[in-house]
Amino acid sequence: MRRLLVTGGAGFIGSNFVHMVLEEHPDCFVLNLDQLTYAGNLENLDGVMAHPKHVFVRGDICDLPFVEKLFDEHAIDSVVHFAAESHVDRSITGPKVFIDTNVAGTLALLQAASARDTTRFVQVSTDEVYGSLGDEGRFTETTPLAPNSPYSASKASADHLVRAFGHTWGLPYNITRCSNNYGPYQFPEKLIPLMINNARQDKALPVYGDGLHVRDWLFVYDHCTAIWKVLTDAKSGEVYNVGGCNEMANIDVVKMLLHHLGKPESLINYVKDRPGHDRRYAIDAGKTMRDLGWKPSVTFEEGLKQTIDWYIANQAWLDHIVSGDYQSYYDSMYADR
Ligand code: NAD
Ligand code: TYD
Repeated sequence: MRRLLVTGGAGFIGSNFVHMVLEEHPDCFVLNLDQLTYAGNLENLDGVMAHPKHVFVRGDICDLPFVEKLFDEHAIDSVVHFAAESHVDRSITGPKVFIDTNVAGTLALLQAASARDTTRFVQVSTDEVYGSLGDEGRFTETTPLAPNSPYSASKASADHLVRAFGHTWGLPYNITRCSNNYGPYQFPEKLIPLMINNARQDKALPVYGDGLHVRDWLFVYDHCTAIWKVLTDAKSGEVYNVGGCNEMANIDVVKMLLHHLGKPESLINYVKDRPGHDRRYAIDAGKTMRDLGWKPSVTFEEGLKQTIDWYIANQAWLDHIVSGDYQSYYDSMYADR
């Protein structure tokens, strides 16, 4: 049985990954380490908290002795590393914590993993490390790294550390670089859930700049299946780009959402642009498709419909975030310990 450490498994993508592994891969034990920052939410793990193959631990990836203890107590053999500060806007207003978590935190995990018989360390990175594209072309795995925001710079630094630990200490590793994800459990500070949340309350939808910035959207479940394939089938040392072949301008995404929600376009409000806003991201995922036989399972139209349906069916989840109640969930759950 695989004994997997998942970091950041109470966040958006991490929790979707934990659900997928427990449902689809019964031969895997998951130790879920998450600090429960503002972005971590135990309600994302409803239905699996008591699963016999899942243990949740609240803790900081930067705390090396604690991380080492977890590796030993749970006989961890592999790692999928999601834990991060992940929001570009926050990295512009407060970059320090991005270095602490994304760089120093990754370093601590690498130290713990490389000092043991870890069979695979999967670094979940982002297409944003490649910088911004013009009107043509797509990012491949050999595109030079040229990060533009403190967030992407911290992720690029972490990627370099992962590579260095592979080269210097022989740690078996992979790096995945994915485009923008959307789907259930995404914190409503990111474009799609923010717009759904605002629209359902008839609040203005803040579109940055001219709204013509392009992102390449991928349904979160499809990102999770790609990561699993990388963990289980990839050759060590390889980088894999993951994307949905689905480029859209932000304004078109927002209009599509309003259409699905039956809300008027008059809610759209063009606001001041993000400083240093990357114009276009687009992923060439050909290597991942060819080498690992991976492909996305849904079109953007289908995935967006499923996502909107999920947010409508789970209004309480959104309400708990808006009210701040989601952060007391841990305390109430563990009050007797
Ligand atoms: P998220 O912000 O929703 O979740 C991050 C999780 O990490 C939270 O649960 C948080 O509590 C936890 N965390 C933060 N600091 C921690 C620490 N010091 N110790 C332990 N846990 C800590 O992020 P996400 O959108 O799920 O992204 C997950 C990963 O995927 C990140 O590494 C991100 O860079 C990458 N990624 C995200 C996207 C996207 O579109 N969201 C795209 C490509 C790559
Ligand atoms: P975001 O979800 O923050 O992801 P990223 O910056 O990592 O791509 O933003 C997606 C796009 O939407 C990006 O071009 C910025 C834009 N955006 C808005 O126009 N308004 C908003 O309120 C937010 C959060 C993002």
